[in-house]
Amino acid sequence: MDLIKWPFLKQSWGMEVVRSEGPYLYTKEGQKILDAAGGAIVSNIGYGREEVAEAIKQATKNNSYVLPPFLTPERETLLDELREHWLPPHLTRIHLSSGGSEANESAVKLAIQYQASRGKPEKNIILTRTLSYHGTTLNMSGISGHAARKRGLESYVPKAPMIETPYPLRCPLGSFHPDAKDYYLDNLKEVIKKIGSENIAGLLMEPVNGSSGGAISPPEGYWEEAHKILIDNDILLIADEVMTGFGRVGDDFASNLYNLKPDILVAGKGMGGGYAAIGGTYSTDEIADSIMEAGYEVMFHTFAALPQSCAASSAVLKILREEKLCDRVNPLSEKIMDRLNSEVGQHPNVAEIRGKGLLIGIEVVKEKEGLICFDENEKITSQIMMKGLEDGVFLYPGGTGEFRDIICLGPAFTIGDEEIDLMVSAVKNSLNFIANKYS
Ligand SMILES: Cc1ncc(COP(=O)(O)O)c(C=O)c1O
Repeated sequence: MDLIKWPFLKQSWGMEVVRSEGPYLYTKEGQKILDAAGGAIVSNIGYGREEVAEAIKQATKNNSYVLPPFLTPERETLLDELREHWLPPHLTRIHLSSGGSEANESAVKLAIQYQASRGKPEKNIILTRTLSYHGTTLNMSGISGHAARKRGLESYVPKAPMIETPYPLRCPLGSFHPDAKDYYLDNLKEVIKKIGSENIAGLLMEPVNGSSGGAISPPEGYWEEAHKILIDNDILLIADEVMTGFGRVGDDFASNLYNLKPDILVAGKGMGGGYAAIGGTYSTDEIADSIMEAGYEVMFHTFAALPQSCAASSAVLKILREEKLCDRVNPLSEKIMDRLNSEVGQHPNVAEIRGKGLLIGIEVVKEKEGLICFDENEKITSQIMMKGLEDGVFLYPGGTGEFRDIICLGPAFTIGDEEIDLMVSAVKNSLNFIANKYS
């Protein structure tokens, strides 16, 4: 029997990384790989920063474990960092956990407890979106719009009523149709009407889709109007910014791009930059006070707010701030987008190059006319990724099973021209490889 060392299921792709530094991974075979995806769009400051290692070391010596509800200096520093420099002022309450899925679970629990605390226990449905990813717990697998990640679980996981994810390229009215915004707003209104706003606690949404859809932004004006509809219907807005938060999209949060004031905001990934397993659920005094007055509990995970994780996150966020790394995101994005548009924009297999800041998606199709996808069994994104690795670049595979062929780019904010060259030429080579193979 073939003994599989790692991971749990054998993959067609993979490598052994013995070390990582800046935006690069170093493999056992001696290859230097540019990580064009910052792992899973996590590594905002790059790998191996001494200051973060030192902060984790100090925290381990000072407070290796302290029960989450107790305050520690490491926790206090992070809370101050978040409140003083990052969070929108209305999000005063902070609940920490060990990653994005847990943070989303907390957000959904808070939304439902809040409605119950207002005497509305029947207002307990969470709307989600047809293309979305909110995590890998049973609940998040169930309510995410990500077919591939719940295969074999469909009979067990909960389901959520879904609104359509605004997807300008594939709008049913036609690609980039001028009425796309109204089409998707009508869909939101219809779903609310069908279910009844008296039964809906909140909408869980990614303001800009992560890798599930591949950096899809809605038509202009959609979020602003959608939020108004939610407010009019007494439905909470829960922004999942696990992938987009902390500078990734060229602003502190993607909600800011649309002037959204979410009732609950969720973060993970960039919050610890890969140095810590940490997620955050941020909410308002009104929600927290109401839950408290009702006498409900907000239970912690044992490893939530671990002093080491808090210290790592504070150090990462301080580096982002002091080195003004977020200011680099939009100029870098413009350079990458220009290069991609000029070098692969007209490629026969590229349907769209899109994104915000350093969250960029390239949607790959078999035929541009009609936006025909490759057969799923061809595993095009895996082939693209393997070709990228041959060229020394890790490209992140996106998609949800239905719209599966998406290359995501999400590098560290520290990259320069050399890395942009490497990234763009790897994308171009891998697309040419696919075009030659299937022409
Ligand atoms: C938007 C979004 N939400 C939630 C998650 C889940 O986070 P985690 O894998 O840290 O549990 C992810 C992970 O990719 C994500 O992109």
